[in-house]
Amino acid sequence: MKSLRAALALALMLPCRTPAAAPDWFPRADLMTIGVYYYPEAWPENQWARDMANMRKLGMEFVHMGDFAWAFMEPEEGKYQFDWLEKNVALAAQNGMKVILCTPTAAPPVWLSRKHPETLMVDAAGRRMNHGGRQQGDWSSPVYREYAAKIVTELAKRFGHDKRVWGWQLDNELSHYEKQYSYSPAATLRFRDWLRERYGGIDRLNTDWGTAFWSMVYQNFDQIEIPNQLEHPALPNPHAQLDFARWFAKEAAGYLRTQAGLLRQYGADQWITTNFMAMHGDIDPTLSAKDLDVFSWTIYPVHGEVFRENGPLGFRLGSGAVQSFMHDFMRPINGISGLMELQPGQVNWGAINPWPQPGAIRMWILRAFGAGARMVCTYRYRQPLIGSEQYHKGLVETDGVTPSPGGREYAEAMRDIVSLRAKYRTDAKEPAAYAKRRTAFLINFDNRWDIDIHKQTTRWDTVEHWMKYYRALKSMMAPVDVVTEDRDLSRYPFVVAPAYQLVDHALIAKWTAYAENGGNLVLTARSGEKDRRGQFPETLWVERLYSLIGAKLPIYDLLPGTIEGHVTADGVRYAWGAWGDVLEPQAGTTTLATYADQFYAGKAAAVTRKLGKGTVTYIGVDTLNGDLEMALMRKLYASAGAAPANLKADFLVDWRDGFWVATNFTSTAQAIPARAGTPLLLGTRSVPPGGVAVWVE
Ligand code: GAL
Repeated sequence: MKSLRAALALALMLPCRTPAAAPDWFPRADLMTIGVYYYPEAWPENQWARDMANMRKLGMEFVHMGDFAWAFMEPEEGKYQFDWLEKNVALAAQNGMKVILCTPTAAPPVWLSRKHPETLMVDAAGRRMNHGGRQQGDWSSPVYREYAAKIVTELAKRFGHDKRVWGWQLDNELSHYEKQYSYSPAATLRFRDWLRERYGGIDRLNTDWGTAFWSMVYQNFDQIEIPNQLEHPALPNPHAQLDFARWFAKEAAGYLRTQAGLLRQYGADQWITTNFMAMHGDIDPTLSAKDLDVFSWTIYPVHGEVFRENGPLGFRLGSGAVQSFMHDFMRPINGISGLMELQPGQVNWGAINPWPQPGAIRMWILRAFGAGARMVCTYRYRQPLIGSEQYHKGLVETDGVTPSPGGREYAEAMRDIVSLRAKYRTDAKEPAAYAKRRTAFLINFDNRWDIDIHKQTTRWDTVEHWMKYYRALKSMMAPVDVVTEDRDLSRYPFVVAPAYQLVDHALIAKWTAYAENGGNLVLTARSGEKDRRGQFPETLWVERLYSLIGAKLPIYDLLPGTIEGHVTADGVRYAWGAWGDVLEPQAGTTTLATYADQFYAGKAAAVTRKLGKGTVTYIGVDTLNGDLEMALMRKLYASAGAAPANLKADFLVDWRDGFWVATNFTSTAQAIPARAGTPLLLGTRSVPPGGVAVWVE
């Protein structure tokens, strides 16, 4: 174990490759590539060659293997068996497919769990998880980490220099599922250590957490436990919860960093990623910005959610906004992103699992292309006949050979991409009108966590709030980068920072300078209330924002049940319920929307002002369906000279590498915004629901 620890320490010190220094894993001219998950360990050996050949016949360019296969890679402690994997890597290569290999640490083998039960997570009720499912390993356990390090090291030694292996995926969808954290003694120790480092002394923690109230005061760090709602009739301390959310995300990022470090120590020039979950709230991918080469993620757009905003077909088309937002979030982290899991048909895990709209699967793949993705991988090639995930469709039917409807759509999308490769021109220039609308959409997970800790109203949903603005942006055909606040904002004519609850003076100064230098800043409801510790500053309510937004904000209101309040803007009436900041504009500030009822009728709900060469807009109300937000955003972009398009929301059109790509997530046909007579490379000028069009102009 000692030498392993030394190797681990060394791995952590190894320099990270920067994308610029990296080999050209994703040549521009290839545009995008498509591949598929395969679990050879679950199928008879005499079918491997046939399956690989058939994947290639569908056009697949890479195959993904090894996630969850720990029991096959290390059937007994210290006895490694990679021959089966080796054979499949060879078969993939013989068929002209690249290989993504995975570290198998999301599914520990039974011998490990029985020998070291302390490697298993403990839930909020104190119950230890057991063998028989997956993702029960506790990555805070030092013993688990040592075993994980050993298998990762062995894999790296065996395949790290293998030219047939193209990239690595670490673990699987890192999370302890939606807030099913591990409350194990190991996790508690590591949480305490993190707090020690963060606060230095217990007095500072007591001050920052406000433990003087309710006698919560701690005498030393060893008395602190992970805040566990099950153990408290009244809520645990909110600052403890916020710190736990921060620690958990950092712990996960650290776990990824360790695995990536080990692979790099032995690996040649293969890229490394992990498959983040779409819109997941507990894991922050930006914390891995320096550790991963590729930012990939997973989405199952059709899983029983209704998506009413997309009309009657919404449940078969999935949310265009969520999908597009994730692409726009993952791509800017380091410029190389893609989808690691996308369904090929019905899934097995939704409460209700409908069939996707015919064409929708191809549309999702083309949306990935339009949004700049470099790869799309589908989950999975074969539908399992037995065991977990029965009912999950694959690219082939249950007979193992006949392409499924989804399989045929993947094949068609691959042919689309191949046809576009032939038209790719290296000198294509981003259209100026499109670039003029470039928008930075600022997020900071601290805000998301802190809002969730005490929402003040059950009607509030942070992601829905984001989507109201995001859909508005995409309906104007704005290119959007979802980025963190440390980025250089000056390259963006517009910055939208929604529900930015936690701010400090430095950030307010950065925003102020951004606007003064000509940028257009949009802030929204419940922003600026707290400092970074999650405390209210000892000022008037949100007073630190007054001089930036040019308004006072004496109160906010929240409406219970289904009660609707109303605001008017430009003669149109809008309904709201979740959140209403009541604003008092100062001289020089213009009111954009006014409350139409309640005791503050006539007061401002949204304001805008000029600041230096730019503008600052504050939209303090969260309307029921986002229509007001959309109208005000359109007005702002128009007055800033950005000539917003007027697409139906969720009819998504973007420019990428010389191609305009339109994908229709709405339930009605939509006309593409191309000049009359422009020839189409794919699709028709009127794009049906679930349809696609691609053109060059
Ligand atoms: C994902 C997971 C895969 C598989 C898939 C089924 O969330 O990463 O391993 O279980 O769901 O849809």
